[in-house]
Parts: sequence; C-alpha cells; structure tokens
Amino acid sequence: MTREVETIIEELRVRLEELSYAYYVLADLRASDAEYDDLFAKLQRLEAEYPQYDREDSPSRKVGAPPLESFQPHRHVVPMLSLANAHNEEDIRDFDRRVLKSLGRDESTEGNARPVAYTLEPKIDGVGISLTYEAGSLVLASTRGDGTTGENITLNAKTINSVPLRLRGPKSEHPEFVEIRGEVFVEKSRFDAFNADRSEEEGRYANPRNFASGSLRQLDSSITAARPLDAFFYSVGELRGIKIKSQAELFQRLDTWGLKYAKSQLAFCPTIDDVVKAHQKLESIRDELPYEIDGTVIKVDDEELRQILGFRSRNPRWAVAVKFKSREASTRLLGVDVSIGRTGALTPVARLEPVPIGGVTISNASLHNYDEIERLDLRLGDRVLVERAGDVIPKVTKVLTAERTGAESKIEAPTQCPICGTPSQRDAEKVVLRCPNAVCPARIKGGLIHFVAKNALDIDGLGEKLVIQLVDEGLVTTYPDIFGLSLDQLLPLERMGATSAENLLAAIEKAKSTTLSRVLFGLGIRHVGASVAEILARHLKTLEGLLAANYEDLEAIHEVGEKAAAAVAEFAGDDDNRAMIEALIAAGIKTKVEEVSHGGAFAGLTFCVTGTLPTLSRQEAQNFIKKNGGKPVSAVSKKTDFLVAGEKAGSKLKKAEGYGLKILDEAALLKLAEG
Ligand code: IVH
Repeated sequence: MTREVETIIEELRVRLEELSYAYYVLADLRASDAEYDDLFAKLQRLEAEYPQYDREDSPSRKVGAPPLESFQPHRHVVPMLSLANAHNEEDIRDFDRRVLKSLGRDESTEGNARPVAYTLEPKIDGVGISLTYEAGSLVLASTRGDGTTGENITLNAKTINSVPLRLRGPKSEHPEFVEIRGEVFVEKSRFDAFNADRSEEEGRYANPRNFASGSLRQLDSSITAARPLDAFFYSVGELRGIKIKSQAELFQRLDTWGLKYAKSQLAFCPTIDDVVKAHQKLESIRDELPYEIDGTVIKVDDEELRQILGFRSRNPRWAVAVKFKSREASTRLLGVDVSIGRTGALTPVARLEPVPIGGVTISNASLHNYDEIERLDLRLGDRVLVERAGDVIPKVTKVLTAERTGAESKIEAPTQCPICGTPSQRDAEKVVLRCPNAVCPARIKGGLIHFVAKNALDIDGLGEKLVIQLVDEGLVTTYPDIFGLSLDQLLPLERMGATSAENLLAAIEKAKSTTLSRVLFGLGIRHVGASVAEILARHLKTLEGLLAANYEDLEAIHEVGEKAAAAVAEFAGDDDNRAMIEALIAAGIKTKVEEVSHGGAFAGLTFCVTGTLPTLSRQEAQNFIKKNGGKPVSAVSKKTDFLVAGEKAGSKLKKAEGYGLKILDEAALLKLAEG
C-alpha cells in the first residue's frame, strides 16, 4: 500500500509539473484552473498525511513558506559578472575589432582574417538571479549581490511560476551541478495592473524593475507568491557533468530543461553587420515587447573562443551590453498649466525647460492630478526626472530634492476654473478636481470636439482648431448650433475659403443622417462609451426614446451597468439637456439603429478578447468588434488577426505572443475602428 502511495504522490507531482510547464513556459493551457487546483490539493493532502515522502522540490512548495527573519548570505561558486557597456554602432564595431584582434583574426594577421559569430539577446530590465540545481533539483536560489556574495532567496524563487523546482528532460541530460543565471522581471501590463490595484497606503512601485526586486526580497515568501513574477535565463556559472559548447547550445539545453528565455527575440549573427542590424531592430520594437528591456547583450557564441578571450577585471571580453538611448532626463519645472476637458476635469500639466529625450524634445509632461503633485512633493523651480516610455505621454517621475536651492515654491491646486472662474470642486469618489460649470467655454469646446469626432457624428473638415474658432467667434455653443451654421457666418472666418465653407456645410448636412449610437456616444454622457452607446441605441431606438428613458428601464438592460444607467437617466432628466435634444431633432437629425458596422473598419478580421479591459466588458468589446464588421472568436490561433488584451490576461496573451499576433489594448481597439 505505502509503495503505492509514493507512486501516486510522484505521479501527481509529474502531472502538476507538466501542466505548469505547459502553461508558464509554452503558454499552452492543458487543464482548467479547477482541475489544476484539485490535483494540487490532492498532493498537499497526501504529503501532509505521508510526510516521509516529502520533497523539497515538490510543486507544493511553489506557494510560499513561513516568513524568514532575514536572508542568509550565499557565495556564488562562479561569481556573477557584470558586462562592459556600449552605446552605439561605433562601440559595437570596436568590440568586434577587439575580439578579432585578441583571437588573431583581424586584418593584421594575414590570411587568417575571418569573422566571429555572435548571439544577440535583449538585455532584460529586471533583477539578476542564480539558480543552483543538483542532479536536476533546485537546491538554492540567490540574488546577484555584489557579484561574489548574494542573498539566499530560495523560498521566494520557488514561488515563481517560470522557476522549475526540477529540470525537465531525461536525467542523463541533467548536470550534476549547475548555476543557472537569469533575470527575474514582471511584464509591463501586469505591473500596471498591480499598481492600479494598489492604494496610496500600500505604496506603488516606480517601475517594473523595482517591482521585481522588491517582490523578490520579501521575507514572507507568500507575498512573493502573489506577485506576477516571471524569469528568463541566459547563462551558466559553475557547470559539472556536462559541457555546453556555445550560447546556441545553451539555449537548446534551456529548452530541454524547461527554462524560459527570450526566445522570440534572439538573433544568431554570423558577422558584426548582422549584430548591428539585429540591435537596431530590437531597439525599434522595444515598446512592443511585453517586458522592459534596456539594451541588447552581444556574446561571442563559441565557448572555446570565450575561454581564449577571458576577462578584463570583472567583465568578460567576449560579451558586451549595448544600452539603448536613455528615455529619462532631468530638467526644470517652469510651471504647472491646467488643461480642462469636456468633463470639466482640471488636469495639471508640467511645463518644462525643453529637454531632448530619446530623440524627441519634451516641454510638457503629464501630472495626472493634484494628488500626484503632493505625492511627488513637487515644487515650482524643482529639477525633476522626466521619463518617456514609447508613445505614452511623458511623465514626471521624481523630484531631485538634493538639487533644491530654497527658491522653489509650492504649487497650489486651482480653487477656480482658470477659464470661466467658477469655483472648482473635488469629485466625491475621486481625486479629480473639476470645473462644475457645464457652460464653461473650455468644457464646451471639449464637448463639441468630441461630438463631431470620427466615432461620433464624424463631420469631415470640422477639426479641433475650427471648433475652437467657432466657439471663440460666438457662432456655436451647443451641439444643435452646428446644424444652424450658414455660409454667411463661415466665410468671414480666418483661413476659410468659399470651397471649404461649402464643403463643411455639405458635411454637416450629411452628418444629419446618422445612427443613434453615434449621437449617444457624441453626447459625452459619463460612462457611455462607444459600445454602451451601441447597446443603448438598440433599446432606446430614437432620440425621443432617450427623452423617455428612466433609471429602472435602463438598468434592466442586460449589458448596461448601474453607473451608466444612472448617468443616462440623470442626463435625460435635465431640462437643458432635454431642450438640446429637442433642438437636435428640430434641426433635422435623423437617427437609425444599426445592427452592424458603419464602414466596417474590421471587415474580414478576427479578434479574440481576453482579460479585464478598463471600461468595456468582454461582451461590449465583442459587440463593438461586430459592429465594426469584425468577427469575435473565443480561442487564439495562428489565424487570429488581433488579440485584445486587458488586465490579468493569461494564457491567451502568451499564446498570441508566441504566434506573433498583433496585440491591442482597449484604446488601440477603439482607435483601430477609426480607420
Ligand atoms: S549575460 C557573463 N545576458 O545585465 C555574462 N545579462 O551587466 C553575464 N542581463 O548582471 C550576463 N539580460 O543581470 C546577460 N540577456 C542577458 C541579460 C543580462 C539582462 C543583466 C544581468 C547582468 C547585467 C550585465
């Protein structure tokens, strides 16, 4: 009987290892969460009952252990080295020249000049880790520390899904002893989701690297277990029992052992020209990767050549880290401007001494809200760090307090709207300051710009500048005013020719025949995005239907949430709004209710939606896709055109990345529909 129990326990372990390898390394879901949990619970039960069969490398150890008092130091068998840095193409070619020269393969050695093959990998922006496996079992994990001695973080490392407690593959291919080196990191989307969920008191991490390092250095490993950490591996330290002849072979071994690496982003480069190209390519797509990288690492592929090249102080002569252009710079905060949107939110914007960051001159940066200013302890005249990541708006990340002169001054949140002077109000539930004046010119402009935009009334030729001009000239204040514009009013406007004026009037006329969903979206009612508007339109049918809407009816609509129902009911109950809707009807707006796409920007394309999107429910996102002529699908395959991924996107996201599919967030999906 006992013999049998041992076999059952071992079978459970193997099955759990299989499933977790498939999921976390191959991005392949082979069992439901419930099945996995069942197996896991069974293993835990049996191990508790039969402690004689307990093993340190059992998958049950992946959930954390009682907290430690402190971390013990761990001395690496082979030190963890650092790399020399390079910054540009010239540095890369210098590195190659040094390598060739040391190997006697450069032009000076007649008849022997030949290139050296390199591998190029992303330089993962995380924290270094070293895993020691003995006969295939994980016995220890350590941070890098000073390179010679790190901290024993075994319990924490064990909780990371992509750290196997046993190597995969045949025992004969496991080294007796190996130190495997890699980087622990967090995917950008998971980092953002984590921070978004955290309250001020709990504290947020400044960037994914701090998150990874903070999470790995928790004395309570159950905290680490709850963090979405990931790991990639890229080199070995001490290695006994087998030989690895090249970086390429190392990656093959990692595959066999079930260890992850940046597979889709590796390049094998027969010459230095290939290296330069591969580096540039990786730099150009760095923002598209799900994880942060801060450069590339170039390594001589062949182990024998590495032995010949050796080391210079603490850096190998056979590798170099090529840093990307920095996207952070320091500059001075000259002032804080306030921008006012159609909802009246007063958003502080940092006015900066212009500074080039990664090839773009930055003179403004987002500050989100006034609480953010307080959190940063930002003062006028401060020197600040500004970060620009990809396409996102640059942000002020830090105040360089050490550089204060005493001349800095406090930043006051506006007590009134800078445009209309109405006293500002703080949102009940949020940290947002608002101008409550519905007829504030700034809000009116923002509202009109939204009303005529592409996915609302879509009036050709009526862009932001012209809207502002029309409001400033007193020609337009409400939405219906647009439909009353005449040639006589337009012609005197600056930069307005007869042809453009006529075209504009024709576009306005054309926009009168529209869909109810476009109008509902264009009205800018809170919580009513494009897809809620589409759903509402199907129920309300006409603008008169909107006037007749009440909270109970709206709330009863399956896909409409409480907040949206309340906002629409409030909107429809307001006298000014009712008059405005009636004026739209009187102006000759004709709305139809469309089941499917206007324009069909997504015609012929398939979309899979996964994870939690910021505003749309999955159903709403699918409706939006259908409305635009696309086809929502529930499973990801190589043939899927787009994956729409939100927070906590799991295996589908990994799968899509594996297939190299295009990945969209909600904003990108909405944008794509605009064509
Ligand atoms: S190789 C002897 N490859 O960058 C070779 N390092 O300054 C040792 N890193 O300490 C490192 N991605 O923490 C290597 N693909 C990669 C890497 C990488 C990130 C980190 C690592 C190392 C530091 C080098």
